[in-house]
Amino acid sequence: MARIAYVNGRYVKLAKAVVNIEDRGYQFGDGIYEVFYAYRGRLIDEALHFARLERSRGEIGLTAPMGEAALRVVIHELMRRNRVQTGLIYLQLTRGVAKRDHAFPMPKPRSALTLTVRPKPEPPEELSGWSAAAITLEDERWGRCDIKSINLLPNVLARDAAKQAGALEAVLFDAQGMVTEGATSSVWMVGPDNVLRTRALDQHVLPGCTRAALLADVAAEGLEFQEQAFSLEELRAAREIFITSATSFVKPITRLDGMPVGNAAPGLIASRLYARYLARLKEG
Ligand code: PDD
Repeated sequence: MARIAYVNGRYVKLAKAVVNIEDRGYQFGDGIYEVFYAYRGRLIDEALHFARLERSRGEIGLTAPMGEAALRVVIHELMRRNRVQTGLIYLQLTRGVAKRDHAFPMPKPRSALTLTVRPKPEPPEELSGWSAAAITLEDERWGRCDIKSINLLPNVLARDAAKQAGALEAVLFDAQGMVTEGATSSVWMVGPDNVLRTRALDQHVLPGCTRAALLADVAAEGLEFQEQAFSLEELRAAREIFITSATSFVKPITRLDGMPVGNAAPGLIASRLYARYLARLKEG
């Protein structure tokens, strides 16, 4: 079946879906994006994703192409046309088409909205086959990583370096040796003291929607938890490491820079949180 994309008000075959080469997203990376996971027709952590989209949009002064209710209709229509019930929805919004000039074009062009959908398997019941390896790399991104910008070159380079090293994710650390996040995920660790930690939100990390939703599960499990930055050194001594995102759900990192994390198997805390995550998916 041909895949269908949404391009500025039209549903078109993916192979025929095109944007203008003077689109500012194409020329400057002047845009933002969102990735939603749909499970059996339902958008997971929907309100969080829409709120983040709205925040990213506001932070760089893009015009909203439509309201949230209309956008929901477009997403569900795109899923229907692609016959995808469980999958990933990629949404991109750019400042639109204008003669190349770095400053914002005046009058404002219509912002450009494009969406694609692709199927993604349901999360596995067992975590053992879901774990992955990671490497560590210096964070070379800009100072506003809280905006979900389409400027992803440092993330792309980091993920490819991970791939070349036989790993999946790159865990990034700043000039002070403190972990920021993964190239495409939020990073969590459990220390030798059994305390679960993830960095507090600031301008150096994306406010992950999966992260936000998981905080309720952490509380429900009664886990000892600190929303606090940790160093690379502390990460290396972790009992457990896991990442979260719309695409990786809760994914244990069992090898870091080629060394085993804990006993190199998914840890107890990751397993408990993954079970909660699955229950949330299924219960709605
Ligand atoms: N990435 N941090 C970064 C840098 C990310 O790119 C992502 C998500 C996250 C986790 O956010 P969430 O839990 O809302 O998915 C954290 C998406 C999946 C991507 O770029 O494909």
